[in-house]
Amino acid sequence: MIQFLTPTVAKRYRGKTCLLRADLNVEPGAEDATNRVDAMIPTIRLLLDYNVKVVLLSHRGRPARRTPELSLQPFARIFMQRLKLPVRFVPGTNLSSVHERIMSVKERVIVTENLRFFSGEDANDVSFARRLAALGDFYVNDAFAVCHRKNASVVAITKFLPSYGGLWMREEIFHLNSVMKKPVRPFVVVIGGAKVGDKLRSLRGIVKKADTVLLGSSVFNEDDIPNISKLSFPDDIKAHENFAWDIGPWTRVRYAKMLARAKSVIWNGPPGYYEKKGFSDGTRTLWSALLANRGVRGVVGGGETVASLKQLRITKRLPKNVFISTGGGAMLAYLAGEKLPGLIALK
Ligand code: 3PG
Repeated sequence: MIQFLTPTVAKRYRGKTCLLRADLNVEPGAEDATNRVDAMIPTIRLLLDYNVKVVLLSHRGRPARRTPELSLQPFARIFMQRLKLPVRFVPGTNLSSVHERIMSVKERVIVTENLRFFSGEDANDVSFARRLAALGDFYVNDAFAVCHRKNASVVAITKFLPSYGGLWMREEIFHLNSVMKKPVRPFVVVIGGAKVGDKLRSLRGIVKKADTVLLGSSVFNEDDIPNISKLSFPDDIKAHENFAWDIGPWTRVRYAKMLARAKSVIWNGPPGYYEKKGFSDGTRTLWSALLANRGVRGVVGGGETVASLKQLRITKRLPKNVFISTGGGAMLAYLAGEKLPGLIALK
């Protein structure tokens, strides 16, 4: 069982330092950045209530080497604005110096540098994890969105520190379980977005449980997916330079009807390039259908899907049982029944 952070746990570490794993793998100014930053706030506040110093750890992007554009520095200001408290960025990849700075600064919330600037992170390197763990007294993972990655700050670090799931992590798991354990039928899944290829593995597991899977793109091999009769491919598309950039009007109507009748929904990835002028109709239509279905229960995830809601200026409230997950790949893997390394490590 995962032990989650509670006031009782936080009280035990009064005056100590918490390494809080966040997922800040977003453009700092982007629409979906708010979602991932806001998800961390309740855990940070709980820790601060017990005078715990909070050291935020995260990766950003997939840099092959140190790349200033992928620094986590801008997030110090963003957390400062959200928390209305001073937040310090501690730069550098020399962990001994980082430790000294963490100990000496007076701010109670600290953002450290992009973990993927360290070679040991992606490799789940145990000696890197040991040195990282030395920055704090205990570890809280509130980064559900990266739990499908076997990275040092997600997995190996838990060997060296008492480890807990954060408040947001608990929310994610609760909502995802409540859709998947006993979905009320019809159970409709929508899969779109740019990384469809990455989602294939998980799609196989999800197809088994769903009644219908609506696909926004057909750029994969149908033979890879079992239960093909449940898959719904677009009947028509809107193309640009020989590529499908949106679903067409017939598909929009058919998909919207299915979403309107659904009792359970999982949606990951917009069906088209909603950000390009003239190709947002598919995404807008699916949102309208989902938002009008007030009794539906479900989870919407993936940065692009959440961002589309804001970018298309859709302001209608979500149905009360629809949860916005911060996870993209992690959400799909979890829903497909895969064991996420980051969650196993917390058990
Ligand atoms: C995500 O944004 O899905 C997670 O942060 C994982 O990022 P990655 O796919 O670069 O490992």
